[in-house]
Amino acid sequence: MHRADHRPSRRAFLDVTGAMVAAGLTAGCTSDAAPSGSSSSATAAPLRGPAATPTPAAVPALGRHQAGVTLPQPAQGNLLALVADLGAAVAVGPLLAELGETIRGLTAGTDPRLLGLPPGDLTVTVGVGPRLVRAAGASLPGATDLPRFSRERIAPRARGGDLLVQICAGDALLVPVVAAALLDQAGDRIRERWRQSGRRGANVPVGEGLAAPRNVLGFIDGIVGPHTAAEQRRDLWLSGPPEVAGGTLAVVRRMELDLPRFAALSVAEQEAVFGRRRASGVPLSGGTAASGPELGAKTPDGRYLVPVDAHVRRAHATMVGVGLMLRRSYSTDEPAPGLLFVSFQNDLRTFTATLTHMDASDALLGFTTTTASATFLILPGFDRQHPLGAGLFG
Ligand code: HEM
Repeated sequence: MHRADHRPSRRAFLDVTGAMVAAGLTAGCTSDAAPSGSSSSATAAPLRGPAATPTPAAVPALGRHQAGVTLPQPAQGNLLALVADLGAAVAVGPLLAELGETIRGLTAGTDPRLLGLPPGDLTVTVGVGPRLVRAAGASLPGATDLPRFSRERIAPRARGGDLLVQICAGDALLVPVVAAALLDQAGDRIRERWRQSGRRGANVPVGEGLAAPRNVLGFIDGIVGPHTAAEQRRDLWLSGPPEVAGGTLAVVRRMELDLPRFAALSVAEQEAVFGRRRASGVPLSGGTAASGPELGAKTPDGRYLVPVDAHVRRAHATMVGVGLMLRRSYSTDEPAPGLLFVSFQNDLRTFTATLTHMDASDALLGFTTTTASATFLILPGFDRQHPLGAGLFG
């Protein structure tokens, strides 16, 4: 290498400093820190680097419910959903118990496979697919497969699956490391079927102590849901039978979105698709983002303020006649821009009846193609005395 390559020129130094200022990365680093002799004020304050990113607070992995459903709130920025099948002769109980132990070590930061990375707000949430649930009891919640819906283009390997491992973390680097540790633990007992990573944008406060991110269509996503403890008891957590109490049912569907066609609409047309304002999340019927749409509100000439085919009308729990679902979706860019729709509810009908109601005439659906689909029983929480999955497969 040429000697000059080792010594950055003053010009190069200034370029780097300029780039740091432009990127807003110079915590405490003002033009005062420019090297002496530069044209700016030439005091000799030391150049300080950017501050370290604080490690987010830990989320308890043990307890009545698994983490990664209601906690943390708001959800972490990064997700990987791994869906796998179990070999025919695999003992389900021991595998789940081992995965639970591994999750305990990973979230506590004691598993050497973490390679010293701080786990921060890492959560790992495990669910089992209908085939395994049926083996434990044909009438248990979670024993039913999802039906087919319109606008699906799903390869056989991206439909269903025996095991869901949902890994979420504020630090994107943790996700593949944690996935590798869990896959290592399971070894050849599982065969990966499909996986999807996703991320969430910055959180926007929407009132009532809640915050939700925008999705790739620019709209705040995740406002309505069972957010109070009473709503979660009623609509989110399974209350029985005892072997599933404290669990819930997950629906995971990857939807590609036609961004160019949506972006070609005017803002008013985009807002009519959802029934909410793009900038604020406020329903087209007024009020606040958190207050929810007033579906009966009309213009003086008798048109609904929230259009008849608006997504928030077609998906509204009272219009469908179901409970609330907790949506915890992540945006995707691979294999295509879209949404990994993730919802949790204690009755699968909450999802199926809602999508059936949307299928008839939801303006949003025309922009979507679903390319992966599965449902899982999210196992009840676990601790040292009650291994993961012991209630069902112990
Ligand atoms: C790519 C597809 C989808 C996108 C981009 C999307 C986005 C949104 C947005 C922005 C809202 C309004 C704000 C909020 O309450 O979070 C919303 C509401 C909602 N969505 Fe979706 N959604 C999608 C698919 C679905 C599907 C498949 C379902 C369920 C079958 C669903 C169920 C709901 C429900 C229940 C609401 C609340 C409606 C209300 O009560 O106001 N969404 N969605």
